[in-house]
Amino acid sequence: METVLITGASSGIGCELAKVYAKNNYDLVLVGRRIERLKQLKSEIKKSNPKIQVKVIEIDLSKSKSPEDLFLLLKKENIKIDILINNAGMGVYGNFLELSKEEMKKIEKMLNLNMIAIVKLTKIFLNKMKTHKKGAILNVASTAAFQPGGPLMATYYASKSFVLSFSEGIRYELKDTGIKVSALCPGPTITEFEKMSEIKNWRDKIKVMSAKKVAKIAFRDFKKGKKIIVPGYLNKFSILASKIFPRELLLKIIKKIQQNK
Ligand SMILES: NC(=O)c1ccc[n+]([C@@H]2O[C@H](COP(=O)([O-])OP(=O)(O)OC[C@H]3O[C@@H](n4cnc5c(N)ncnc54)[C@H](OP(=O)(O)O)[C@@H]3O)[C@@H](O)[C@H]2O)c1
Repeated sequence: METVLITGASSGIGCELAKVYAKNNYDLVLVGRRIERLKQLKSEIKKSNPKIQVKVIEIDLSKSKSPEDLFLLLKKENIKIDILINNAGMGVYGNFLELSKEEMKKIEKMLNLNMIAIVKLTKIFLNKMKTHKKGAILNVASTAAFQPGGPLMATYYASKSFVLSFSEGIRYELKDTGIKVSALCPGPTITEFEKMSEIKNWRDKIKVMSAKKVAKIAFRDFKKGKKIIVPGYLNKFSILASKIFPRELLLKIIKKIQQNK
């Protein structure tokens, strides 16, 4: 049986990915800060599939030492990771110039979580995968990664462009190793993202996908080894538009969408 490590499994897309992998008989390591939520998910999963192993770990991945701590903890328990899913992420909303000191601290945390933790976890687990000449890494970016920028969420958009670029770059480096790297680029999805990012209520204003649907498509396309996974036609269209429309016009549209939050 293969083991999949999912960061940010306590809610949203990560939680649904955990359920899909459980259904397909993978052992799971589920990571997040809200341990009670992870324990609850574990008992739910064990009830529906008692054959699989589920380990839950409480860790704050925005802290510099956390990726190494997580790796050492798993090493101590002799748990080998076959698939790494770097899903944990958050956003910070606001006009960059007007962000307070407190909000800037949040941005630093976000950049650590959305970029640095992914790079560190990828490096640590890749070393092991290289030894076994087998493994797979799925990094969760966003359709935001394709846009020229994200006025009012500029640092978040930039962090997702980083995730996409990093994933494509190392995928190419690893093409002859048996290790595959993919990027998942969801569009607006119903999760706890807005609550965590302190964004008001935009969900009823634009069409969104369920986290369950995103996870189902992600599982299917990642298994096929697809480089960039974009769930849903509307999201595929938004990426196409980002390649056709002038960058200035896209920035204007994105700002309008963000202003409605
Ligand atoms: N929802 C969308 O519209 C959308 C669109 C495109 C991309 N995405 C991306 O999808 C990914 C999943 O987000 P989601 O929409 O499912 O949101 P979510 O429901 O808020 O889930 C985010 C997950 O990340 C975890 N997390 C947050 N901060 C963490 C930290 N410091 N250390 C460890 N784990 C942390 C959270 O767990 P704890 O709070 O328990 O730590 C939670 O499980 C993110 O990378 C996000 O950028 C979301």
